Amino acid sequence: MNPDLCNKANLNGKNVKMTIHIGADKGDIAETVLLPGDPYRAKWAAETFLSNVRQINDVRGMLGFTGEWKGNPVTIQGSGMGMPSLSIYVNELIRDYGAKTLIRIGSCGGMQENVKLRDVIIAMTSTTLSTPSRGIMKEINFAPCADWSLLQAAVQAAEAKGTPTHVGGIYSSDVFYDERPDLNEQMVRHGILGVEMEAAELYILAARHKCRALAVLTVSDHLLTGEALPSSERQSSFGDMVEIALQAAFPNA
Ligand code: HPA
Repeated sequence: MNPDLCNKANLNGKNVKMTIHIGADKGDIAETVLLPGDPYRAKWAAETFLSNVRQINDVRGMLGFTGEWKGNPVTIQGSGMGMPSLSIYVNELIRDYGAKTLIRIGSCGGMQENVKLRDVIIAMTSTTLSTPSRGIMKEINFAPCADWSLLQAAVQAAEAKGTPTHVGGIYSSDVFYDERPDLNEQMVRHGILGVEMEAAELYILAARHKCRALAVLTVSDHLLTGEALPSSERQSSFGDMVEIALQAAFPNA
C-alpha cells in the first residue's frame, strides 16, 4: 500500500483510505480530473454535466465529485485559490490517486482589449513571479507549458461550440489585490491574455510527473475596462468552459 495513504474515518463513520487533504478511497478518483478553484463550482459542474455523480471529498469543505461524462470516468475536485492550495491537491491527486489528465477550469481577469467578458482563454503557457516549485528551479526561469494534445482538442471543441476563444500566454499571479500595477502593465504590453492564480504550478507539476495539463478559463472581469460579470451570470457563462474541458479530455466521445 502507498505509505502516503492512511486509514481514517470519514463522516459516515466508515473507514476509507485518504491522503491528508483528500478523503477519498483510491479507486474513487478518475484518471481525468477537472479542477475549479471554487468547491461549489465543482459541485455545480458535476451535477450539471456528469451522470452517476457521487461526492468523494469534503475535507476542509474542498468538495470533490466523481461521475461519468459520455461513459468516461471524471473527477471534479476543488483546488482552492492560489498556487500553494492547488499544489497540495494536485500533488495528492497525481502521487497518491494516479490522476493523469488535469484540467483547470476557472475564471481570469482579461488583459487585452480584444479579450471580452465571457470569452474563453486556453493557456498555452503561464508567466509567473514564483510558484511553490520555485525552490527546486533555482536560477532557472522554467516555462510552464500546456499539453499539446489537450490544447489542440480544446481549441477544436471551442471552435465547434462557436465560443469566442483566445489561445496564448496567461499570467499566474500570487495576489488578487495587486499593489504592483507596473507588473500587470508589462504583462499587457507583452500580449498576455489574462491573469489568474493557479495554472503555472499545475503545468509544472504535470511536467514533473509526466501527466497532461491544461487551463481553460472564462474571463470574469477585465483589468483594462474594470468590468466584471455579475455573480448571477458567472455560473451560466462557465458552462461553455466545462464542456470544452470535457471534450478536450475525451475528444472521441
Ligand atoms: N486577478 C487574479 N486572479 C483572477 C482575477 C484577477 O483579476 N480574476 C479572476 N481571477
